[in-house]
Amino acid sequence: MTAPFGPARPFVKWVGGKRSIIEPLLARLPARMDAYYEPFLGGGAVFFALTGEHRVRFAHLSDANERLVTTYKAVRDDVEAVIALLRRHARLTSKEHFYRVRERLNSGRLDEAQTAAALIYLNKTCFNGVWRVNGDGAYNVPWGHHKRPYVPDEDGLRAASVALAHATISHREFDATPVDPAGFYYLDPPYDATYAGYSKDGFGPEAHERLADWTEKLDAADAHWLLSNADTPFVRRLYEGRAIEVVESRRTVSRSAAGRGTVGELLIAPAA
Ligand SMILES: C[S@@+](CC[C@H](N)C(=O)[O-])C[C@H]1O[C@@H](n2cnc3c(N)ncnc32)[C@H](O)[C@@H]1O
Repeated sequence: MTAPFGPARPFVKWVGGKRSIIEPLLARLPARMDAYYEPFLGGGAVFFALTGEHRVRFAHLSDANERLVTTYKAVRDDVEAVIALLRRHARLTSKEHFYRVRERLNSGRLDEAQTAAALIYLNKTCFNGVWRVNGDGAYNVPWGHHKRPYVPDEDGLRAASVALAHATISHREFDATPVDPAGFYYLDPPYDATYAGYSKDGFGPEAHERLADWTEKLDAADAHWLLSNADTPFVRRLYEGRAIEVVESRRTVSRSAAGRGTVGELLIAPAA
């Protein structure tokens, strides 16, 4: 069956998006998965790439970011309403409109479709396409001064909606994901940043340890998994004894010394 709106792809730009290592990742994931779990969904690059190749029969997608999860649900369940709202944002787009939408998103008074349209519009027009919240959980990324006007990718959203039709979408911590012996889990936590002296998205060393412990539960149930993370001594230590491979990826390391360059990433799987 050919997809009526073309292949689905991420409709938000997300930090840690896996497009830069998608080929080696896809090569290591099974050809066909009856129950695919992705508990750190983010922009969903891996899920969408897999659905494009018809490799997933049913998916269980989740993330700890509640507004991101609401956005996926609205795109799955009510994509035309989201598109209609995005057309309106596109008509009104300006610096002032951006800040009005940001305030509305943070007010918590939007319904699902409105939340989705606000998040997608802000993601496409903010500075650098990042999601960042302050201590109170308020989204606080500034306007991006883009030169080209914002145009919603309507068929891209419809394609995503079709891909999401065979998925549960949940707001939860990764370790609240059911352990399913017949499941395959792709685990993509925020990168370990212990080397840089800060924790990304509040995902610090304890969270990485908690995740490593949780993979032992998956092993105990005989569930299969693949995990990606930065190539750091801490991550290598956490997964010692597992099957660890290094893949090269082009992504931004930092704005200063290293600049944009090639960084090693680790793909980790249960011990052979
Ligand atoms: C590296 S990103 C995933 C990127 C994704 N694979 C992609 O290609 O766009 C990590 C995601 O984990 C989520 N996250 C952070 N802490 C979490 C937790 N404790 N439980 C579940 N999800 C979490 C973040 O909201 C973020 O969306």
